[in-house]
Amino acid sequence: MLEYHAKKDLLQDKIILVTGAGDGIGKQAALSYAAHGASVILLGRTQQKLVDVYDEIIANGGPTPAIGCLNLQTATAGQYHELATRLTAEFGQLDGLLHNASLLGSLGPLEQLPIDTLETVLKVNVIAQAALTQPLMPLLRKAPHASIIFTSSSVGRKGRAFWGAYAISKFATEGMMQTLADELDGSTLRCNSINPGATRTKMRASAYPAEDPLTLKTAADLMPLYLYLMGDDSLHENGQAFNAQ
Ligand SMILES: NC(=O)c1ccc[n+]([C@@H]2O[C@H](COP(=O)([O-])OP(=O)(O)OC[C@H]3O[C@@H](n4cnc5c(N)ncnc54)[C@H](OP(=O)(O)O)[C@@H]3O)[C@@H](O)[C@H]2O)c1
Repeated sequence: MLEYHAKKDLLQDKIILVTGAGDGIGKQAALSYAAHGASVILLGRTQQKLVDVYDEIIANGGPTPAIGCLNLQTATAGQYHELATRLTAEFGQLDGLLHNASLLGSLGPLEQLPIDTLETVLKVNVIAQAALTQPLMPLLRKAPHASIIFTSSSVGRKGRAFWGAYAISKFATEGMMQTLADELDGSTLRCNSINPGATRTKMRASAYPAEDPLTLKTAADLMPLYLYLMGDDSLHENGQAFNAQ
């Protein structure tokens, strides 16, 4: 699917929510989904970054997006339900949900991993995904076909020394994806995971400060798979772990 060529109107009339839409891969996914016709709900914690992405989508001639400013570290069940209620009123259905926002936490030996770091990383990378997905399920069921994409990592598929909380959270993400996919089997919903691979973003730079970012793929390079899994060409895919590179 790395060579997938999305037709221009692949996501026409689809409503897609992207978490962590203000920066990095999430920002690029939001721009790409809008460029292929989707109305994108930009969810993130930094309002100004979301406004900038909103403006870029409008400047590119895309469908008017919506903004949901929410910190996944502190969001309450009430806030997730409020968001679902607002989206029900504004859009009536949800065709796609890209769980992309994540925290890296600190790298180091598991023996010394601060438990509060583990809690924070699991809150943002795992618990928030479940807490957001639950109230959105009725909206996702209203779409003719809906796609949920979870974002994994190489260290979510094979453990690696010193990747502590982040690796644990990505294994949990794969587990959530597989569990949900089995429950969705035979329904109009599907879910899969993407491992983006090394990509030129702030998160990668903080994990590998000595690396030359110009040697890395850009978020735009990954978009064939992100588009494939969000559009109707992937209706038969469920419970699969994909690599974007
Ligand atoms: N880049 C890579 O090489 C790589 C490799 C494997 C997997 N991944 C995965 O790909 C996804 C995107 O990563 P990226 O490299 O694009 O990272 P990034 O540049 O750091 O972007 C992460 C996004 O998540 C948002 N976010 C973080 N904490 C949040 C919170 N508490 N509430 C709401 N939003 C929050 C950030 O918001 P702010 O902009 O406001 O900080 C940012 O928009 C992540 O799931 C990551 O684990 C990346």
